[in-house]
Amino acid sequence: MDLQENEVAEKPAVQVKKPSIPRTATFCAVDIPGPCGLVIFGASGDLTKRKILPSLYRLQKNRLLPEKFFILGTARTEMSADQFRGETISAVKNAFPEDFDESSWKELVSRMDYCPINYIDQKTYAQSLKEKLLQLEKKHQTGGNRIFYLAIPPTLYEDVISNLGTTGLSREEGGYTHVVIEKPFGRDLDSARRLNRIVRNSFEEKQVYRIDHFLALETVQNILMLRFANSIFEPLWNRGYIDHVQITASETLGVEQRAGYYEEAGVIRDMFQNHMFQLLALTAMEPPVSFGAEPVRDEKVKVVNSIKPFPMDRLSDYVAIGQYGKGKIDQTLVIGYREEKGVSKKSVTPTFAAMKVLIDNWRWNGVPFYLRSGKRLSRRRTEISIHFKPVPHLMFSNTLNEPIEPNRLVLRVHPDEGMSLILQTKNPGSEVCLNPISMDFRYPKDVLMDAYEWVLLNCMHDDQLLFVREDGVEQIWSLLTPVSERLESTTAVDQFPNYAAGSSGPKEADLLIQRDGRAWRPL
Ligand code: BG6
Repeated sequence: MDLQENEVAEKPAVQVKKPSIPRTATFCAVDIPGPCGLVIFGASGDLTKRKILPSLYRLQKNRLLPEKFFILGTARTEMSADQFRGETISAVKNAFPEDFDESSWKELVSRMDYCPINYIDQKTYAQSLKEKLLQLEKKHQTGGNRIFYLAIPPTLYEDVISNLGTTGLSREEGGYTHVVIEKPFGRDLDSARRLNRIVRNSFEEKQVYRIDHFLALETVQNILMLRFANSIFEPLWNRGYIDHVQITASETLGVEQRAGYYEEAGVIRDMFQNHMFQLLALTAMEPPVSFGAEPVRDEKVKVVNSIKPFPMDRLSDYVAIGQYGKGKIDQTLVIGYREEKGVSKKSVTPTFAAMKVLIDNWRWNGVPFYLRSGKRLSRRRTEISIHFKPVPHLMFSNTLNEPIEPNRLVLRVHPDEGMSLILQTKNPGSEVCLNPISMDFRYPKDVLMDAYEWVLLNCMHDDQLLFVREDGVEQIWSLLTPVSERLESTTAVDQFPNYAAGSSGPKEADLLIQRDGRAWRPL
């Protein structure tokens, strides 16, 4: 190419090779992020101990943390950095009782510090927090790249976010500044909008990482790969070939120590507003133009936009709820929800819900998506099952007495991560005798990274693909807020409990799908 006068040839971009852990047969290369400092608000809390610190330890053990890196824990508790380090070691040992590597821990701990804070007092941000942060940034040469992780109760989000804004800590000066916000993001449409406004006053959307940890599960990321990196599924992925879709997230655990939160939330806010509708969006969305945060999030938003609002006059045809009573899980007697510590004896909080969701677009018109999730069910299982239509003509009708079971594709999110395709085959012999077989793929044990490891890495990599955008969160609230409000105002005390712990949920959920001539996959 000839250059005109005054034109300057563009220098070829210098390819900087990012450090990474190399690819193996079962594991892709993982890039190691650049320098940064992680500030954990709520550092003495449960989430930090159960999820964040164990994930950081695993990243350290697998050499996936940046060399120039530090963790600054902050919380209301007055304690020294040494006390903080001491407290966290037991949390990590608890998470990995048989697999605790002392030297990895020591490396991590040498980069940990602590600074107490009063969440609502601006002064402590402008003084102690800022001072400590600048000091650590200098010491660890992190170039001003900061992540503020809010592992605090949602009631404190507004104060902390506003204080980060007014004290200038949210500004990007020299490096990036990201804020990580846990769910629940609001408790209805109004509060989510309000929180978004407050976030917007202090941060730009490109700095905001709203977590839905399901999105960070490898098996959930795999939905997009399966759909768009294979040409055999996409032509069938529509109303022409799919009869219906079932999305299940069942748990054997009860409400555990979280009654205070759960009594306010219930299953619709806890599981549907986020995880269940995110799984639906990934399963139903159109192919994005590229595998980037914005194109993928655009497509998810479009599909949620096409969901038909739930008809309030016939809500029970579309939504069934339940609450567990006492029962047996793995042969052990367990108490009912109303007997749990911190739960009202007259609680009408649902611990189970099933929904029929209709998507009003060209691809999915007439294909119901059935969603169900609940606590204290017979089995722990999260999966998406695609139920294909039956064959159009039964040429074996003279020889076969029974209808042929339609094909199914089951994506197992967890446990037993993998997928299976159920097909019909002929059994050996002279008669026509069909046998459904399952083509099965299982992820090898121990290759999957935990969702929180991905959350942390992606946030350090500046990649918002696995996080929920402002419009995404509001849109799902606008669908579900009328539903939860209606249920709250109409559920009677004597309606619950309506399923026994260890069962597969209330009969109302069975009826919801049976009315359409279908059945849930057994748990
Ligand atoms: C959380 C919910 O978001 O997801 C919990 O608040 C639920 O109630 C949990 O138990 C399920 O996630 P996982 O990864 O344990 O299946």
